[in-house]
Amino acid sequence: MAVPSLLSLLTAEVHGAVPDAPAGWSPGVRRSRVADFQADGPLGLARARGVDPRAFAGTVAAAVPGASVGGPGFVNVTLTDRALWEQVAARLDDVRLGVGVPEAGVRTVIDYSQPNIAKELHVGHLRSTVIGDALARVLDHLGGTVLRQNHIGDWGTQFGMLIAFKMDNGDASEEIAALGDLYRRARARFDSDPDFAERSRARVVALQAGDPATLREWRALVDASTAYFTRIYERLGVLLTPADTMGESAYNAALPRVAADLAEHDVAVPSDGALCVFLDGEPAPLIVRKRDGGFGYAATDLAAVRHRVDTLRADRILYVIDARQTLHVRSVLATARRAGWLPEAVEAVHVVFGTMLDAAGRPLKTRDGTPGRLTDLLDVAVDRARETVRVKHPELTGAALEERAAQVGVGALKYADLSNNRTRDSVFDPDRMLALNGNTGVYLQYAHARTRSVLGKAGACGPLDPGRPLEPAERALALQLDGFGDVLAEVATSYEPHLLCAYLYGLAQAFAVFWEKCQVLNGGAARDNRLALCRLTADTLRTGLTLLGVAAPEEL
Ligand code: ARG
Repeated sequence: MAVPSLLSLLTAEVHGAVPDAPAGWSPGVRRSRVADFQADGPLGLARARGVDPRAFAGTVAAAVPGASVGGPGFVNVTLTDRALWEQVAARLDDVRLGVGVPEAGVRTVIDYSQPNIAKELHVGHLRSTVIGDALARVLDHLGGTVLRQNHIGDWGTQFGMLIAFKMDNGDASEEIAALGDLYRRARARFDSDPDFAERSRARVVALQAGDPATLREWRALVDASTAYFTRIYERLGVLLTPADTMGESAYNAALPRVAADLAEHDVAVPSDGALCVFLDGEPAPLIVRKRDGGFGYAATDLAAVRHRVDTLRADRILYVIDARQTLHVRSVLATARRAGWLPEAVEAVHVVFGTMLDAAGRPLKTRDGTPGRLTDLLDVAVDRARETVRVKHPELTGAALEERAAQVGVGALKYADLSNNRTRDSVFDPDRMLALNGNTGVYLQYAHARTRSVLGKAGACGPLDPGRPLEPAERALALQLDGFGDVLAEVATSYEPHLLCAYLYGLAQAFAVFWEKCQVLNGGAARDNRLALCRLTADTLRTGLTLLGVAAPEEL
């Protein structure tokens, strides 16, 4: 059963205490340093009405239990110890820790990861994959229906040279194809050998015409790459499977109609032989059909919008794509709205993310100048993690050591990405990422394991007694624990996973203070209540880390 947070209950109470509050007015309740909560809304409203703020706050406070007037006219609220203990007990009583289902009945399409066939995944794909995955998990946890769409790059003129090269050199193994080598070799040949370039162009025509032998080669490439993507997704611990793949090629058949419909309704117009959409205030038009009659990236994305709205019946579409594609996404969405394919009721959001930089502040690159390879980043993180784990646990070897190193290393890499405000560029810094202190995945994994170990040592314990007095450190921890559902709801409306990271870090810190100030195992009459706080902390940390896609091992 959902347990409304104290903050949301108080918000309703303060609202009810304000005589004829204007529509949409917010009481502005938040956590406070001087009391448990503070409502700022009454002050603003009093000023707007031209009445004395402190007197106004006084009338509001008189109607809310535990409230008093603070500062120039805030309403401060201190809850009873019993109310806090009862809240802890109610959350512990529910497997979902009292978190509600605000997303029930909402269908969200998430377009994320989107790697390209015959190329390696790079750092940009890492960010899209990790952020998209966390959003998918949170929306699903809040009761929503999530439709994962991996919009892989599996179509385009580059397949002409890839297939021609593969047919010329029957030995090009699938592995090489997957790892990008085929792409580099075919490209080099294409640029240096005019005959080969000619054969490549003919292959594009054959592929588009559906020639069976050419399609077979194309399929083999797609399958090899898909198998490679799947291995990486498993290593990364993300939800994506081949069933979530809806690549560019899947929209081929729909492209001529996209162009015809846009032209018929004058959304797109001929321009210099191409078919374009001109959008007010944009620096460049959206090219739906090129001069040579070919369709590009824009047409595919428009067909995808139609599919997502008409067939998948999306209420919301999230595009987890890097910031450099902002104009493209904005233009596609504006065109779809204008064409009537994306009704106002369907929310469509570009969940933008910045570039990952190296220590010198430059975009992360490999030695040959291409974007940093995802597998290299994973290897660096896991290697570092293995050293950390080895120091703490010399007894771990073989598969057990590898498993722990992967949990810590992959978790650290993902957490470092997620804890960063996603719109900003981030820095790949293995030392900071694996620091045992600070807002890192490892710190939270340790915090979780520590609470589990306390619970293991405690063994059986009785129910908590809501009649006990609360110590300040217990109070701070209980209040933080109560905010879990609220922060998840915030992630679901802002698409900002770093809010959840900041919350979990705050929780781990509140627990550390509690642990320092309060005896738990030797807590006497306070023992059961304190163990209840430990258990709720452990479960909240584990659920939170899991929603971020970060492992939460029982011991570390
Ligand atoms: N495959 C593209 C890339 O690797 C990203 C695709 C983004 N998604 C989309 N619907 N356009 O850069």
